[in-house]
Amino acid sequence: MMKKIVVLSGAGVSAESGISTFRDSNGLWENYNVEDVASIDGWYRNPELMIKFYNDRRRELEHCQPNDAHKIIAELERQYEVVVVTQNVDNLHERGGSSHVIHLHGELTKACSERGKRCVEDIGYRDIKYGEKAADGGILRPFIVWFGESVPLLEDAAAHVQTADILIIIGTSLNVYPAAGLLYYAPTGIPIYVIDPKEVQPIRREVIFIKEKATEGMRQLRAKLMTVDS
Ligand code: APR
Repeated sequence: MMKKIVVLSGAGVSAESGISTFRDSNGLWENYNVEDVASIDGWYRNPELMIKFYNDRRRELEHCQPNDAHKIIAELERQYEVVVVTQNVDNLHERGGSSHVIHLHGELTKACSERGKRCVEDIGYRDIKYGEKAADGGILRPFIVWFGESVPLLEDAAAHVQTADILIIIGTSLNVYPAAGLLYYAPTGIPIYVIDPKEVQPIRREVIFIKEKATEGMRQLRAKLMTVDS
């Protein structure tokens, strides 16, 4: 029976692919007001601004490549069952080779109806034009979980964390709940690795910090796992 690794990732795992994080200096929330571009209130107040915000990020994603962290996480699937629970809306874990990715906060390359986020469709990297209709006649919107909206995949993600043998937390400031609370579902006593160049939120769990960027941190962790589990 293969050991199970759950990876809880955030924007930092895609930083070396050239995608901005949210709360670092010059991060997205330094240049945009999150209420205007990433909240359900913002959608009803100013949908065109939000459509443009996500069109810009979708166009940027087309020219970004997965980095070694994404690839090493995917390679772990040779020896472990690996489930990636990501807060990221980019598709770099999939393009890096991961086969089981849960997107807690939605996906940039998908759109849906504003009526209950139904009629989800793949749109790749193309723009959404405000006023386009979804299959149910509702206005087409980005398939993103905005502040103020529920996180439908949370229970699925929690069930995976609860059955993990190893938890890897990488590139997240653990500022946003309920995603950040997932680590507390980890069974007592399993190793929890945290990879981040900065100290992240105090975690009420015994963790092993690897104070590195994602690519270097995953290289070091891969070496550690090979000695432990080879
Ligand atoms: N490698 C690893 N980690 C990095 C790197 C890097 N090269 N560069 C930055 N980091 C770390 C930062 O130190 C920080 O701890 O990545 C983390 C990024 O934190 P945030 O910008 O807060 O991103 P994230 O935790 O993913 O935000 C969660 O907030 O705005 C919402 O929905 C949005 O999904 C997002 C959620």
